[in-house]
Amino acid sequence: MRVAPLAIRLTRNLPFIFPEMREEMVSAFNDVIPQEYALEWQTISAADGITEIIGRLCNRVILGPHICREPAILALKRQLIKDKADFVLDILPEPLSVLIAGLRRRTKKLSQLLKPTIQLQQRVQKESPVGSHYRTSSDAQNTILSSLIAETSTPHTPYEITRNIIALNLQAVSTTSLAFTHALYHLAASNTHVVQPMREEIQAALRGEGWTLHALERMHRIDSFLKESMRLSGLHALTMHRESRKPYVFSGGTHIPTGAHLAAACASVHTDAARYASPETFDATRFVRAGSEGAPRYQLTTTGLDFLAWGHGRAACPGRFFAAAVMKMMLAYVVLEYDVRLSEGDAADGSGDVEARRPRDIWVGYERIPDLHAELLFRKRKGFR
Ligand code: HEM
Repeated sequence: MRVAPLAIRLTRNLPFIFPEMREEMVSAFNDVIPQEYALEWQTISAADGITEIIGRLCNRVILGPHICREPAILALKRQLIKDKADFVLDILPEPLSVLIAGLRRRTKKLSQLLKPTIQLQQRVQKESPVGSHYRTSSDAQNTILSSLIAETSTPHTPYEITRNIIALNLQAVSTTSLAFTHALYHLAASNTHVVQPMREEIQAALRGEGWTLHALERMHRIDSFLKESMRLSGLHALTMHRESRKPYVFSGGTHIPTGAHLAAACASVHTDAARYASPETFDATRFVRAGSEGAPRYQLTTTGLDFLAWGHGRAACPGRFFAAAVMKMMLAYVVLEYDVRLSEGDAADGSGDVEARRPRDIWVGYERIPDLHAELLFRKRKGFR
């Protein structure tokens, strides 16, 4: 089972699936932050709320509009993400074999739920095969599910198709949710001198064409904010895990024998004073100032020897273009539509250190997890719209 080709498919089809991503995001936000009280401050569990929204958005582009909101499917997908989180956090006392058995059970259950849709689409595609399943934005076949069904090169029972869908979900939802939760904590701890220029930039980018991928590309402050958040609160201290296939000697004389496990220490690269000025300070416009606005080298999705949050080189994260589009769209939406703060009594407008104010990260091995219990206050912006 290979997730990378599915991630690449999502990337290729971003222009077509973007309107659906936005529609599902708005609908999920409205469920997580009830609109009848939206003009009052509301307390939201950040990590749960974000995982719910990103889970729904991913479900929409993976499964399609008809089945993505079915309660039984949503509940199963939620449980799978929770199982993975519990495993990473080492909360469950069970050994790995019990977790794998649970995963098999849930895969079987989900494949039974998806079976009628899969079989129906298989029949339809047999009767009227089409060359591409990602042609227009209105194409009802714009999903990973339908492209998996259309594949003829590999055997694809409902169970096998479901396994691919689950693997993609597990890879995509938790990473993107955790990274966005980190960014949301940075936002809640930022003052209006940071937020106001972001609002102005978003409004300028939306003027004319509205919410499109192209408009997102012009939101350089949003891009920089997320990149700075990933620099300081990247999900891993180590990345680019590799095993050497033959002996190698680095120019400094370090000898690597065959079979040695290697990784890049990205957290220390990201806080290296030789690479970043005031490396411990959260500087929302660091990457806007670093080059001319939008220069590719400083963009969120660009990897390099000084930015390793997506890995680097041939095996760099193939899902980063999708993840970046999701996070940029969500951050721009939150910044434009809501005031966000940490909690009553927190002076979001005071000067001060964003890193010191935001909820504390926790480390599990070399994984950096945002505070999963922290709550944020959200309020719809008065007079906006
Ligand atoms: C903010 C969210 C994400 C972060 C921080 C992230 C980070 C990473 C990192 C550090 C790697 C290892 C790269 C290397 O070894 O050089 C990786 C690999 C991978 N990621 Fe992501 N990722 C994210 C979202 C996604 C999404 C949304 C998808 C799918 C749509 C995805 C699919 C993959 C796959 C398939 C690999 C393995 C690539 C391979 O081994 O060839 N990731 N990711």
